[in-house]
Amino acid sequence: MPKLNNANDLESLRSELQRARKNFRTTLTLCGGTGCQASQSRSVIDALKKEVNKQGLDKSVYVRTSGCHGFCEQGPLMVIEPGNIFYCHITPEDVSEIITQTLLNNVIIEKLLYTDPITGKKSQTEAEIPFYKAQDRQLLSQNRLVDPCSIEDFIAIGGYSALTKVLAKMTPEKIINEIKESGLRGRGGGGFPTSRKWADCKAAHGDEKYVICNADEGDPGAYMDRSILEGNPHLVLEGILIGAFAIGAAQGYIYVRKEYPLAVEHARIAIKQAREYGLLGEKILGSKFSFDVEIARGGGAFVCGESTALMASLEGKVGEPRPKDVHTVE
Ligand SMILES: Cc1cc2nc3c(=O)[nH]c(=O)nc-3n(C[C@H](O)[C@H](O)[C@H](O)COP(=O)(O)O)c2cc1C
Ligand code: FES
Repeated sequence: MPKLNNANDLESLRSELQRARKNFRTTLTLCGGTGCQASQSRSVIDALKKEVNKQGLDKSVYVRTSGCHGFCEQGPLMVIEPGNIFYCHITPEDVSEIITQTLLNNVIIEKLLYTDPITGKKSQTEAEIPFYKAQDRQLLSQNRLVDPCSIEDFIAIGGYSALTKVLAKMTPEKIINEIKESGLRGRGGGGFPTSRKWADCKAAHGDEKYVICNADEGDPGAYMDRSILEGNPHLVLEGILIGAFAIGAAQGYIYVRKEYPLAVEHARIAIKQAREYGLLGEKILGSKFSFDVEIARGGGAFVCGESTALMASLEGKVGEPRPKDVHTVE
């Protein structure tokens, strides 16, 4: 991987990646999230890659393994572009039919379409499915567009351009003000305004500041942190970098549940790739800003998701909360 020395290097790489992706006539995105892996999506993905190569389609068909699309009960599932065709409950035996029928002859395979359990109506595209119709996905909407293990996929859809903008054109005060105007709030139960957290941390005593990304997610079945770290870890890293620049931190931590092995693995790969490109480390993109991230794995204690217990755990102490007479940011 070439090290990116400035914003122009990043933009050149982005153009190159976008050009390369335009050469593919079709993109098959298979979900490789934890839910779909539990219904054997790995064997479907392997069979599909094998068949694409066997039929000599590897230059025109891009097979992407993505994170969760949200509809895990229908897995293994796939979206075919162009056309936004949605197939579900796919087995390895369906693979050759998908290639010969849908890819080469534009024939829709009825048995792989989603069937509404009440009306019995079949849907051809994701957009027609009632489950998706009622949603306006924001953070998770990109999951389908990126392979979480490919920083290139993320860069191709505009990844790290917000970081470039921040480093080139914005002061920490301006960032915090923009976050305030956006109304962005924490996704924890408290809905705490993010701008206040960042402003208080920036103003706190002491030169050493840290960013901690709380991905402990103790609430059973919540899966929001897992879905984003598993599916789009670079999005999280870019957010951490912007927060770090705003508060003046040089070090960050992602505190993530040990029971989320895929999220941990994808976060690790993302950090490694970002370091190789120079998006983490010393003098990022030729600026004066240096920053790095480490992963800390939670040991399964629900209470360690609470901010003060989490910080104690990070420091190697017993993960117990303390009274907040001194606020977390201080
Ligand atoms: C017992 C307890 C457990 C918590 N567990 C979590 C958790 O698993 N993940 C989380 O993000 N916040 C958890 N919180 C909330 C955090 O203390 C903190 O408010 C939150 O991480 C702030 O997130 P925000 O930046 O999205 O506002 C917990 C709080 C308590 C009291
Ligand atoms: S893991 Fe595949 S849709 Fe959720």
